[in-house]
Amino acid sequence: MFKIVKKKILNPQVKLMEISAPHVAKKAEPGQFIILRVNENGERIPLTIADFDREKGTVTIIFQEVGKTTKLLGTLEEGDELLDFVGPLGKASHFENVKKAAVIGGGLGTAIAYPQAKKLHSMGVEVHTIAGFRNKDLIILEDEMRAVSSKLFITTDDGSNGNKGFVSDVLKKLIEEGNKYDLVVAIGPLIMMKVISELTRPYGIKTIVSMNPVMIDGTGMCGGCRVTVGGEIKFACVDGPDFDGHLVDFDEAMRRQAMYKKEESLALEKHNC
Ligand code: FES
Repeated sequence: MFKIVKKKILNPQVKLMEISAPHVAKKAEPGQFIILRVNENGERIPLTIADFDREKGTVTIIFQEVGKTTKLLGTLEEGDELLDFVGPLGKASHFENVKKAAVIGGGLGTAIAYPQAKKLHSMGVEVHTIAGFRNKDLIILEDEMRAVSSKLFITTDDGSNGNKGFVSDVLKKLIEEGNKYDLVVAIGPLIMMKVISELTRPYGIKTIVSMNPVMIDGTGMCGGCRVTVGGEIKFACVDGPDFDGHLVDFDEAMRRQAMYKKEESLALEKHNC
């Protein structure tokens, strides 16, 4: 069993939990994920590792309460335990020869972008972080991002934080102002990662995105997390979740993401009954 040692509410929909999982913490790297199961009857859900502490033996997860399992998870408190917490899974992010990077998070994707920014910062890279949210009440990890960024830009769709716009607008402006990025890391909704990848393509800036499709076994066996990258079939759980944004077939990924909407809302309805 895996004990919840800390629980924090980041915004009305998003919660952070630190889980005691020494074996996972020992090997965890940014970019990897875990699969957890709350109880025996629960489904397995993948969550990206938002942080880890090897000394304390803890792994941090951040999740949005959107479906049956995440809502159930959100009801648990410090001291409660999870039945399964398997990982680290997936390939760790690999950065080489990077001097200046832009790290972009969209909504909850910021929780996944943050460890990437932290890692780049620890390697001595100049990091510009751009995070976008629907409104100011949904902003998360502002202090944490500021601590690992040379510059931090936070935008909101409705302008309620005084900075209206999309993350792609900020990146475009920064590139046009002459910032020479060796790397862009973009993590968030598929449409955002697609737009950022199309923006960086003509500049030839290497762009890494993190794919978060439906996952079941997390071991490359079930095919649930299939994505097409550079015309080849890849499995996000074992070949990713990081991929070259210029090679990902985002349109197919968006179609596949919509496939289970009906089942997901049925499960949620039952949970709420
Ligand atoms: Fe089953 Fe990736 S989750 S193949």
